[in-house]
Amino acid sequence: MSEQVVDKRRRLFLTAAATAVTGVGAAYVAVPFIASMNPSDRAKAAGAPVEADISKLEPGQLIRVEWRGKPVWVLKRTKETLVQLEEMTDMLRDAGSDESEQPESCKNVTRSIKPEVFLAVGICTHLGCSPTFRPEVAPEDLGADWKGGFFCPCHGSLFDLSGRVYAGVPAPLNLVVPPHKYVTDTRILIGSEGGQA
Ligand code: FES
Repeated sequence: MSEQVVDKRRRLFLTAAATAVTGVGAAYVAVPFIASMNPSDRAKAAGAPVEADISKLEPGQLIRVEWRGKPVWVLKRTKETLVQLEEMTDMLRDAGSDESEQPESCKNVTRSIKPEVFLAVGICTHLGCSPTFRPEVAPEDLGADWKGGFFCPCHGSLFDLSGRVYAGVPAPLNLVVPPHKYVTDTRILIGSEGGQA
């Protein structure tokens, strides 16, 4: 790994760790907690799969659902983001997701079944804080090299928009991608594997 890459990464990490978390950029929008879960509360408590309706999800939007008491993010990525993900490799600890947890169908660059739709458990793999959705490119507090991703304010871990962890930060692993499958083109069952409907 070149000194330039290490320096760049260190700079990005230090800048992120030292600065307060701010708002969400124009291209991406976090949508309030989803209301598209079908099973009863009792079923949810028992760990049953939950359904996410992404029919109204626009590129750049992220919704949250609850599965087994954990937050699960569903993000619709932009075309620009998909291009950027290919260029992140040098910045990441486990770019190929070899050590990280995801369904076999999501062991790829986008860590997803469909490239544009990304799901992840919204819990930092360091000590369990909830990372913040930071999709904007090069915000002041995260630095000029930031391409959009997730920032954990507890100890400054950084993840790209595939939930892949940056090298040189406290979190050891990529964010977990939960088992899921498409029931239809726009309905995803979280907690149940099987890939495409
Ligand atoms: S809990 Fe996220 S960086 Fe420590």
